[in-house]
Formats: sequence, C-alpha cells, structure tokens
Amino acid sequence: MKNIGILCSGGDVSGMNAALKRFVEYSLAKGFVPYFVYNGFEGLIDNDIHQAGYHDVAGIISRGGTKIRSSRSNRFMEEKYRAQAIENLNAHNIGYLIVLGGDGSFKGMQKLSQESMGISFCGIPATIDNDIAGTEYCLGVDTALNVIRDAIDSIRDTASSFNRAFVIETMGRHCGYLALVSALTSGAEMCLVPEIPYELEQYQTTFLQQKRAGRKYFIAIVSEALNNTKQISEWFESKIGVESRAVVLGHIQRGGTPTVYDRLMAFNFVTHAIDSFLGESACGVVCYSEGGFHLKKIEDVAFKTYQINPFLLRLAKEYGRQR
Ligand code: F6P
Repeated sequence: MKNIGILCSGGDVSGMNAALKRFVEYSLAKGFVPYFVYNGFEGLIDNDIHQAGYHDVAGIISRGGTKIRSSRSNRFMEEKYRAQAIENLNAHNIGYLIVLGGDGSFKGMQKLSQESMGISFCGIPATIDNDIAGTEYCLGVDTALNVIRDAIDSIRDTASSFNRAFVIETMGRHCGYLALVSALTSGAEMCLVPEIPYELEQYQTTFLQQKRAGRKYFIAIVSEALNNTKQISEWFESKIGVESRAVVLGHIQRGGTPTVYDRLMAFNFVTHAIDSFLGESACGVVCYSEGGFHLKKIEDVAFKTYQINPFLLRLAKEYGRQR
C-alpha cells in the first residue's frame, strides 16, 4: 500500500492544525502511513518530508497557523523543480497527497498530477479570502470573520466615544467577501468591495442627512482590493466633516484560535479527501456546496472565478442608500 502525505501552501489559516490532526488519525485508522511535507511546495522540492504520528498532532487542534508551515513557492513554477518534487514523493512511496491552499496551490497540484504517474492528489480549499470557485466555504474563513468582528466591535467603542469615522481595511486579496460579510454583521455604515460599484456622492448625501438627524460616528469597511482606505478616510474629513482614522487590520486576520466551525470543517474536508483516495476518484478538490461535500475536478475549481453569493451581494447593494 502506498503512503499518504499532506502539505499546506499559500497563506496559513486557522484550522490547518485541526486538519493535520484529523489527517494523522484518520490515515492511521484506514491503514495508511501518514507523512508531513513541511514548508509547502518548497519542502516538497527540498525533500522536507517526514513520517508523522499521534505525538506530532497532540495538543495542536486549538492553535492557529500550521505546525508544518507553509510557503509561496516560485521554484515550483519550473518543471525541473516539480520533477524533483515527484522524485521525492516516489522515494517516500507516497501515492496520495493532500494539498491545503488556494487556487494558485491547486494549479500547482494539477501540474504535478499531469507530470507524475501513480500519485493521486486532493485539494482542500484553505484561504481566508473565500475566493475559490466551486466551494461556498474555504477553511479559515469563519475564524478570520470572528477576528474581524472582534476588531470592529473594539473600534466601535472609540468611534462612538470620540464621534469619529473609522475606515477599516480587511484582507481578501481581489475578493470582497471578508469585507462584505464583516460590514453586514457589524452594522457598518459603509461597505466598499470590488464586486459592487459605488458612488461616493450617494454616500455623501446619505451621511450628511444622517448627521443632521443626529448620527455621531461612522464605521466603514473597505476591502484591500480597492487600495483606497486612506483616501476614504480623508473623504470623511473633507466631505462629511467628521474626524477620521484609517485602520488596516492586516495579518491579525489570518491567525487566532480556530473557531468550532473551522475545526469541524477541517475534520470534514480531510475525511472526504482521504475517502476520495479510497474510492474511485484519482484527483480533485473537496468542495463544500449546497449543504454537502463534493469532489470536483481541479480545472473546475482552480481555473474558474469565484462569484460571491448573489443574495449577499444584493444585501450589500443597499449600502449608501438611506437605510
Ligand atoms: O491569501 C491570503 C492573504 O492573507 C490575502 O488576504 C492577502 O492579500 C495576502 O494573503 C497577504 O499575503 P502575505 O501574507 O504574503 O503578505
């Protein structure tokens, strides 16, 4: 029987350690010998591959980040390094590899699957950006949203005490999901995301009316994709006439104690990935959609564009209008 491996690639997320724990325990239960590939695709190239056991995953379920580390690998774009990676997998008799990461990682995984023989690959969507086509959920999103919620709730204390505007920038790369859901669930007055065109004049009319009616402070959530956090903060001072501060939440959004939901999703994603190796399917990505887990083709996930749920977008379109 071939051995089984796992690696984390791209931005780390909370829930990866829970996934590693399930990986070791479920692999052993199914008769596989589990291996950790440290440092993502970089470690695959450098042969940083080690057998894992129960002792490696004891006590890690509650920790953010990833015990086996992650990386963004430029070398992996080159065929000669991928050939080295395949040689290393074969040397460890690894016939099954799980990759936790985003669409870039899945593109790398697809290349490996095309260039290797007798190795099956399975992706698990893991990025706080929630920007992967074919899946409604990526591991780590819930923890990130809860971290953002805590941050906004704290900032609101100062905003309300000082009669200020706060323009809070969330991560998400090109996707507005984190900003949109955070704005809706924190009761923000403004939500700017790349998926929805906005008019500052419309916001200005609404905010000036609200000010006349007694509003004292504003919370604006802006996606990093727009790259205009500072300008929006200046706009509050010049056009709305309130003191304003810009806050970039940054990497605090990627860490923190994984929520119950992320621990459970980690458990489910890994279980389905390992089950896919036991079944007929050779390669794919485990996606969560329409209330269930489905193995989808790598090309249907890695090479398509994620669309935010239309109902969420509809709610977000209400921003800027008198509410
Ligand atoms: O993809 C996850 C993410 O945190 C994005 O939201 C962000 O744009 C990017 O990674 C930051 O990358 P890095 O940690 O390399 O600065």
